[in-house]
Amino acid sequence: MSTEHLVLVGLMGAGKSTVGAECARRLERPFVDTDELVEAVTGTTIGELFATVGEQAFRAHERTAVEDACASPEPAVISCGGGAVLDPDNRRRLRDRGFVVWLRAAPDVLADRVRADGVDRPLLGPAGAVATLERLAVTRQDAYEAAAHAIVDTDGRDVTQVADAVLETYRP
Ligand code: S3P
Repeated sequence: MSTEHLVLVGLMGAGKSTVGAECARRLERPFVDTDELVEAVTGTTIGELFATVGEQAFRAHERTAVEDACASPEPAVISCGGGAVLDPDNRRRLRDRGFVVWLRAAPDVLADRVRADGVDRPLLGPAGAVATLERLAVTRQDAYEAAAHAIVDTDGRDVTQVADAVLETYRP
């Protein structure tokens, strides 16, 4: 491994952004969020991108964002959008350039968190987030497993506790 980024993956609501920012603060490193990179490059929001050009075009932007984040010579903390690991190239790149931690939580916990943070997540739509998250947990399980060097369960833990657990697994 050339640059040991700390990479956080997991479903929507897993806490990748909040925990990632906390880990970056403690490690005194830059924090990079692939959704934010996509929004900065395209000058629009993830919701607008899905609505105007569709998910496939969003995934292409996301792939570039993963590539750019991984290419940073300075070790960073990288939070990936929940679906980034579905792409085998993204998985390989993230594992090659970083230590990948899968933040896991039960679908009802994830649904409570996404309801609370107010971020627009087009895949969840207006109907039952729990049902969608349950389905995604099943269909994406293998991809998260293939991407991860370590797993941290986040149910019932706050940001400080999850960051503690992540940094405990992280051996750069
Ligand atoms: C997605 C997760 C979102 C965002 C997009 C698609 C997914 O990021 O990339 O709405 O496919 O799981 P977060 O996991 O940060 O919410």
